[in-house]
Amino acid sequence: MRTQVAIIGAGPAGLLLGRALELQGIDTVILERRSRDYVLGRIRAGVLEQGTVEFLDAIGVGARMHAEGQVHTGVELCFDGESHRLDFADLVGRKVMVYGQTEVTRDLMAARDASGAGIIYEAEGVSLHDFDGSAPKVRYVKDGVAHEVSCDFIAGCDGFHGVARASVPEAAIRTFERVYPFGWLGILVDRPPVADELIYAHHERGFALCSMRSPTRSRYYIQCGADERVADWSDDRFYDELRRRVDPETADRLVTGPSIEKSIAPLRSFVAEPLRFGRLFLAGDAAHIVPPTGAKGLNLAASDVVYLAQALSEFYGDRSEAGIDGYSERVLRRVWKAERFSWWMTSILHIFPETDAFGRRIQRAEFDYLKGSRAAGQSLAENYTGLPF
Ligand code: APR
Ligand code: PHB
Repeated sequence: MRTQVAIIGAGPAGLLLGRALELQGIDTVILERRSRDYVLGRIRAGVLEQGTVEFLDAIGVGARMHAEGQVHTGVELCFDGESHRLDFADLVGRKVMVYGQTEVTRDLMAARDASGAGIIYEAEGVSLHDFDGSAPKVRYVKDGVAHEVSCDFIAGCDGFHGVARASVPEAAIRTFERVYPFGWLGILVDRPPVADELIYAHHERGFALCSMRSPTRSRYYIQCGADERVADWSDDRFYDELRRRVDPETADRLVTGPSIEKSIAPLRSFVAEPLRFGRLFLAGDAAHIVPPTGAKGLNLAASDVVYLAQALSEFYGDRSEAGIDGYSERVLRRVWKAERFSWWMTSILHIFPETDAFGRRIQRAEFDYLKGSRAAGQSLAENYTGLPF
């Protein structure tokens, strides 16, 4: 089989890239290790930056998002029970869209189905070859039969544990990492959200987040120990702990119900450098990870793809290599700013094992500063709604 761009991974990064390239007449093959149902069964984040919304519109997959997603013009911060709303519309004239990543994935898969391009699911043993030359290849096994795809470029969109980054010689790549000493215990529940907007809460017992997927479906998180087990958290225990960490009115308003999903996610910051190795590019979680506190994971995958699609379009359309040569540097400059923001949000909102009385006063001062200073509010709002591409 021959294609122009072989894409490894059918998460948001791979699907977005496939769609953007398709619209430019560039041929792609997408190889995904898991089944379609498995990919659609993963519960992931749900806040889209304004730029991500514009990108989804530009590639023609925004219709259901506008019909079913919720536009939010602010968020609530809560510190030891005291609340402060940040009004993004007023502070920076921008907004975000609450629309689940699972739904974005579903819309992108439907668009690819409609175009007839297809996705090769349950591709086993994917391996990357010769990306240091001009004729790279990707090999995989499907239903026991070995296949080879020859291509011009390989896009590694296969997430943090994927094969693409792991295929790069160790001496050619440098990684930067911080693993946080706690996790997020999250539940999904078919009950109306406790508030119209997201609530990010800092409390001496730990962080909590009240989020949502729709007017009838809520997503709640609490900070938990890195080694805790889901089995030890009954729904009642979860809700009791959540109520303790938010302001009293929110706690009273909370409508509880049986969880339909419950899981613990570790928190990590990670960046690989560079993001191009000859004819191989890394994008999305394969290239970088952020802790979920800033809601940046999916949005970074989208901005990587904007840059990569543009670079490949220049290569094929204008016969210019400037875009692919500049890809890594352009992406990393934006990625590090999102890393900074996600790390900062995480550090002010969570309790760390080393958080002492001084550390808590500093966290309190961050909150007071955000409350009292328009400039501080604008800085958070500018980053949360998304820095320019
Ligand atoms: N071969 C083929 N596919 C693979 C392989 C492999 N060896 N390894 C992983 N994959 C697939 C995974 O099964 C997954 O479907 O690559 C896909 C990567 O998708 P994501 O993990 O969703 O990563 P990405 O597309 O970069 O999206 C980033 O999604 O995961 C969230 O928090 C993340 O919000 C962020 C965004
Ligand atoms: C979510 O709804 O899952 C969510 C929202 C905001 C975040 C993280 C997760 O910062």
